[in-house]
Amino acid sequence: VNWIRESAATSTFCPQKDEPAGICWDDLGFGLVETDYMYSTKCSDDGNFSKGELIPYGDIKLSPSAGVLNYGQGLFEGLKAYRTKNDSILLFRPEENAARMIMGAERMCMPALTVEEFVEAVKLTVLANKRWIPPPGKGSLYIRPLLMGSGAVLGLAPAPEYTFIIYVSPVGNYFKEGLAPINLLVENDYHRATPGGTGGIKTIGNYASVLKAQSAAKAKGYSDVLYLDSVHKRYLEEVSSCNVFIVKGKTISTPEIKGTILPGITRKSIIDVARKQGFQVEERHVSVDELLDADEVFCTGTAVVVSPVGSITYLGKR
Ligand code: COI
Repeated sequence: VNWIRESAATSTFCPQKDEPAGICWDDLGFGLVETDYMYSTKCSDDGNFSKGELIPYGDIKLSPSAGVLNYGQGLFEGLKAYRTKNDSILLFRPEENAARMIMGAERMCMPALTVEEFVEAVKLTVLANKRWIPPPGKGSLYIRPLLMGSGAVLGLAPAPEYTFIIYVSPVGNYFKEGLAPINLLVENDYHRATPGGTGGIKTIGNYASVLKAQSAAKAKGYSDVLYLDSVHKRYLEEVSSCNVFIVKGKTISTPEIKGTILPGITRKSIIDVARKQGFQVEERHVSVDELLDADEVFCTGTAVVVSPVGSITYLGKR
């Protein structure tokens, strides 16, 4: 946990308005609520980002030939800020998101902010939008850092300019089930990632490619899709937007990080906490047969937090 302290810079440049009107803190789902400010900085060929600034939240201007639009050269992150009972603001492990973006940027041939620059930018953005952080227990402020190839390219190549943006939105529960158990469909035809691909980083294309299977599953009443590995079609990978764990007796198991699964920060935290509490936690290949035989199943992610799974459907059998 990282405490945010007020900085003179934020209060000088970002006049704070009153409590947001028209927002019902009890009704927050996981939809975009536009807030006051976003953070923006750019970097050209030299790899150094300019001094970032807070600007009013709004549309951005991009060349139709931007690398991100034509070739998907983009990454995003997701983290949350919470308001405590004594009105402090906490960030959950922002350094981990910064490190993951650096790793992803390396894979996508993009420059990235340093951990310190990233965390400072997150703090400035959260403080500038402080009035949008839900009261304790009502939700959190979801923080969405975006790194994109904004420079124009036609031939396939890394973009000549990059833009880093952070915007935020107050959110509640991710699944419409709230904290009630979700119903997952094990996907047998489509795969999320392949060995040697980009499944292990948070590149934007990983999320567009799951929409077809996810939409089909939702149309049949499932909450989401659980992917299997693309080589054996037998081992669990992850759900469209979160990691998965199974519990059998006193052992908790989760697919190991091997390039096709996102190294989730909530995943890592759950592993740490469970081990400290004396559970045996295994990161390894977890087969679909073990999933069907598990005592409990749950998902973890920044957006989903920890979601219990109520049912699994595989090859037509629930
Ligand atoms: C997150 O948990 O922050 C994610 O990136 C999932 C996203 C698809 C909502």
